[in-house]
Amino acid sequence: MKESHILESSRYAISFVLHLLLLFLFFHLITCDPINVPVKILLNCGSHELSPFNGNNWTGDVGSNFLPPEYDKSSTTLLISKIEPLAPKVPYSTARITHSPLTYSFPSSPGLKFIRIYLLSSSYLMMNPSDAYFSVKVGPYTLVNDFNPSFFAQELNLVFFTKDFLVNVREENLNITFTSSPSIPNAFAFVNGIEIFPVPRSIYFPDSKVPVPYLGYQQPLFINDEYALDMLYRVSITNYYSNNVENAFGAWLEDSSYISDSQSGSVLTIEWRAVSMNCSTFTSKDYIYSAPEGLYRTARTMGSNEDANMKYNLTWSFHVDSGFKYLVRLHFCEIYMAVTQAHQRVFKVYINNQTAEERMDVVALAGAPYTPLHRDYVVMVPRESGGRKHLWIALHPNLESKPKYADAILNGIEIIKLSDSNHSLAATFQLRREQTKKKVPQAIIVAGTLGATLALFFPFFILIRRAWKKQNWGTSKTLPSSSIERNHKKIQPTVTSGHCHQFTFAEINIATSNFSEALVIGEGGFGKVYKGIMHDGVTPVAVKRSNPSSRQGFREFQNEINLFSFCHMNLVSLLGYCQERNELILVYEYMAQGPLCDHLYKKQKQPLPWIQRLEICVGAARGLHYLHTGTSQPVIHRDVKSANILLDQNWVAKIADFGLCRTVPSLYQSHVSTEVKGTLGYLDPEYYKRRKLTEKSDVYSFGVVLFEVLSGRPAVNPVAVKEESEKAGLAIWAMHCYQCGTIDQLVDPCFEGNIRPQCLREFVDIGIRCLANRTVDRPTMGEVLSTLEKILSLYL
Ligand SMILES: *[C@@H]1O[C@H](CO)[C@@H](O)[C@H](O)[C@H]1NC(C)=O
Ligand SMILES: *[C@@H]1O[C@H](CO)[C@@H](O)[C@H](O)[C@H]1NC(C)=O
Repeated sequence: MKESHILESSRYAISFVLHLLLLFLFFHLITCDPINVPVKILLNCGSHELSPFNGNNWTGDVGSNFLPPEYDKSSTTLLISKIEPLAPKVPYSTARITHSPLTYSFPSSPGLKFIRIYLLSSSYLMMNPSDAYFSVKVGPYTLVNDFNPSFFAQELNLVFFTKDFLVNVREENLNITFTSSPSIPNAFAFVNGIEIFPVPRSIYFPDSKVPVPYLGYQQPLFINDEYALDMLYRVSITNYYSNNVENAFGAWLEDSSYISDSQSGSVLTIEWRAVSMNCSTFTSKDYIYSAPEGLYRTARTMGSNEDANMKYNLTWSFHVDSGFKYLVRLHFCEIYMAVTQAHQRVFKVYINNQTAEERMDVVALAGAPYTPLHRDYVVMVPRESGGRKHLWIALHPNLESKPKYADAILNGIEIIKLSDSNHSLAATFQLRREQTKKKVPQAIIVAGTLGATLALFFPFFILIRRAWKKQNWGTSKTLPSSSIERNHKKIQPTVTSGHCHQFTFAEINIATSNFSEALVIGEGGFGKVYKGIMHDGVTPVAVKRSNPSSRQGFREFQNEINLFSFCHMNLVSLLGYCQERNELILVYEYMAQGPLCDHLYKKQKQPLPWIQRLEICVGAARGLHYLHTGTSQPVIHRDVKSANILLDQNWVAKIADFGLCRTVPSLYQSHVSTEVKGTLGYLDPEYYKRRKLTEKSDVYSFGVVLFEVLSGRPAVNPVAVKEESEKAGLAIWAMHCYQCGTIDQLVDPCFEGNIRPQCLREFVDIGIRCLANRTVDRPTMGEVLSTLEKILSLYL
């Protein structure tokens, strides 16, 4: 009795202590961050002292904890005696200059950080400002590369400027490294000031379930944490009367210098006293990071002459680097007194010649006048030799919906560069220096290396030819997965190759002109795909290079090489591989007409005639049937989709990308989008639910492909996804039409009723059977193949 009492009370004591501990931990957790992590870092580079300036306290970097002591010797600090009269004294009157790499290390917390680099470029530097060439890196991100502030300043017609970035920091430390360009003699790096503060990630990274429309592409883009952002332009509508607009990132620029048409419309301003805005968003403290209320109090409209409005586009144009994606954020708010309801002002929005909005109706979208909103779009500016390009935004009235006013309105523009798959925000074009200074005789060097390598790799093409002719390569045994795992863990895994031909890296380098961006024909989770030319100068190949920075592709790489033994006219042939240094490269036969999906719903292509589509389906079905039955062990493709059915120059369909596994963590956008396709578009619901993989999962996906072929629509329609329409997923919609007896709706309008009714019926029947919910109800690939062959024979 007594004992149990003691037990009881000690139990209470223990639980009490545990609770105290938890409480302590809890408070520790919630109070820890604000104490250790400074809210805002303002670093005055090259300065010894604490400098209060304009209400901010700047810390000098000399002797600070942000810089290892040895750097004070390897870099120079500079007190600038004669700075530009307009440049603020802090941080521009001092600088740090270095020839060797210099790393600032700031305590940080994981999360999104705003990073601003302050630069003043003029002859104060003692060295020639045009010799300043350097890169700035943060973690894996290259913010600028071979950057010359003096050329940049010339282009903007400024002497001092800032470069603003948003970077997602994963560690407890934020390291910023300045490195002078190694390829340039006497190059040096300098910096005047650095500013860092945390930013709520929701400002530019929407909920991961909300993709941003990607103009010109079927799939929307998910802006995930892998991207770093270069904040290029923040533009507000200003005129003589209106106030400057500022938010947490500083002042917004005036839009008038970006108006590119001769007509600039008219500016509309509402007084602060006159109207109060419906600003539910402004009650959240985050709004100072996105757009301040003042932004929405001025707008540019086209003007009051409606006939004139119909004759022009209200256009803004911005200089950007080519070869990058840009996030364009447009801010709207209806502030014209007379426009109070939906359908009164409806207009089109074009970005770089693409329709971003067919029917923009601000009041309808916002729900009321005086209610701000913004819309995001992603647009790719394709790489061009010149480097810089224009990104333009144009508005035009849309009269189709008979609005009351033939006019358009816009309140603000943000243009943000997204980092590419190499985590770089830096464009790689020829250094401008080469044009002005004496040139390295590059042509001679290139010619020299070409000559040498051509002599070295003469046997290259012969080997390829041999591989081609040798039809029975024999089965290279599939490695037990444990041995793949073991290899995977090694730092330098090596591939077991069976009989697959091994290329040297130098051979591949020549075939792809040093992996020229101009030769990129595709991009996936694995890396980029280049079109290469064999040493004979005529035989094209497709070269798939795994992203050297990631090891994730290894398993897929091994899979593809194992599957190399499969040889069938409807499977894309692997010609060989290369594993050298950190490179994993696969070489395939080149498929001249590209993926099937391009010919189904890319508008610039001629629609394929029905018979040709049937032939393609038969070919693809043969390839899959062979994978399922033609070898000792059935192979499940797992990623059947119209993008993985490639067409050669004779329009023969071949299955590609076998061995690509779906468990790769998504890092880059192309991956995210395949993920979506897998989930919404092609993925067998049974497999999704039960994780039980059979050949019938491929049959399901193939069923979706059959309906893509019939309808000329993608497996997932992003517009319909947004509208939550039943047309979002093609499979579900096909099933719906089938059950309602409206299969006519599924037929690509370009056929104009040219499909024979019996063929259509049988084609839809087999497609619907492929999509059966239960795997047992689905046909085998063999049955699908013979049905398709029968349908095709009706035309022959
Ligand atoms: C816009 O597209 C049209 C038609 O596709 C083309 O003719 C025109 O050159 C394009 N303009 C620009 C500026 O790209
Ligand atoms: C406005 O821009 C669009 C998109 O580039 C173009 O198709 C249209 O012809 C332009 N309209 C006028 C009046 O310039």
